Amino acid sequence: MNAFKTYDESKAHEIVEGIYWVGFADRKAGFSNNPYILDDGEDVILFDPGSRAPEHFNIVKEKVCSVVEPERINYIVAHHQDPDICAAIPLFEEIVNPRVKIITPTRAAPFMRYYDSVSEVITVEDGEPFSLKSGRILTFVHTPYVHFAGSMVTYDEKTKTVFSSDIFGGFSIDWNLYANENYLEAFKAFTEPYLGSKLALDSALDKLETIAIERICPQHGSIIDKDIEIYMQAARELEVGTWV
Ligand SMILES: [Fe+2]
Ligand SMILES: [Fe+2]
Repeated sequence: MNAFKTYDESKAHEIVEGIYWVGFADRKAGFSNNPYILDDGEDVILFDPGSRAPEHFNIVKEKVCSVVEPERINYIVAHHQDPDICAAIPLFEEIVNPRVKIITPTRAAPFMRYYDSVSEVITVEDGEPFSLKSGRILTFVHTPYVHFAGSMVTYDEKTKTVFSSDIFGGFSIDWNLYANENYLEAFKAFTEPYLGSKLALDSALDKLETIAIERICPQHGSIIDKDIEIYMQAARELEVGTWV
């Protein structure tokens, strides 16, 4: 087994060099919340920090602090405005770099203040490459209405990793950090009720299919690091918007 795949869920876990899962599995709820850290040396990025409820936040904070000194975190990426992504931002603002910047889509940006966040917000355009100090490129791919008007995912060219936010998330009764044989069903159970538009989903998939992807790191559920084409195809076949 790949050494990177051996993990202890009570601790932070390095998925690939410099990228860490710092989340938690809420087994009672059959749900996980998956913030991630990307440590690129001079730049450290926290993706989708998550909940402010102490039973969630304290776990994430401890894991974050176990892999980086929190004051090194100079960017927080909020892929959209939902509370399971953003509620912890003000709590992290107390421990991260005081000049931290929040990167978010334009249509999500106004909501940051509603969380009492005080940091500078940077909005990014669709497909905009963002250079880190090392020269590493992150690309922000907008996925409008999947599932909020201002939604995006992040692509890290260096490791071919997509931080996919709610896309490819899952509800899980038998949660595992890495997608197992039951994850297609978990993915379907989460995604179908939470998406309203096939058109929007197809537009997001059209963009993702142009990218060479080795792993998908969603904000809920499990990391997909094999059979990516099978998941892409399954996403094409989802029945979304059926509650309308
Ligand atoms: Fe969401
Ligand atoms: Fe979410």
